[in-house]
Amino acid sequence: MLGKLTVASILAAALFITGCGDSPPVALFPLVSKEDILKGEAAYANSCRYCHGLPETGNLPVFKPLRNSDIVKGDPQVLADAILFSPHHRKGSDGPYLFEKVDDETIVHIGNYVRDKAEALETPMRVKTVERAREAHASATAEGADSAAQ
Ligand code: HEC
Repeated sequence: MLGKLTVASILAAALFITGCGDSPPVALFPLVSKEDILKGEAAYANSCRYCHGLPETGNLPVFKPLRNSDIVKGDPQVLADAILFSPHHRKGSDGPYLFEKVDDETIVHIGNYVRDKAEALETPMRVKTVERAREAHASATAEGADSAAQ
């Protein structure tokens, strides 16, 4: 009993110390596994590369390298929204969004793959981020429909 307690308190103390450090715990363990980045790379090759080229090179003169994009480097929810609901990612002007039906986890893998290339992985995308982007889009769309009906 005493043994267990001691282990628990040491663990708690260790967590407390790493939680209070000046630098984020990035150096201790990666926030996104290499394996997940590779999944993102494969999904990107299937779904994005056709237009955007590689994140490092782009597909010039039309597509600038995504690695340099402020959207890719910025708030992960804004990036998730851009992937899912950019007007550029739509079939025609009011057709379905190309990636709307892609599952959250795959969007996360793609998002973190491009963020890795943009050196913005210290704030990774999470499944929760994608859920929030979908909710925000759904409520913005519903509000739009409301005001159009008035
Ligand atoms: C059918 C072509 C096409 C495909 C496929 C496509 N995109 Fe795009 N995407 C565009 C166009 C066009 C733009 C607007 C021009 C630009 O930003 O280069 C854009 C813009 C973006 C932007 C915003 C860039 C900025 O800084 O404004 C991001 C991020 C993005 N795409 C990511 C992706 C990802 C990730 C995928 C794969 C899941 C993808 N796109 C697939 C055509 C495409």
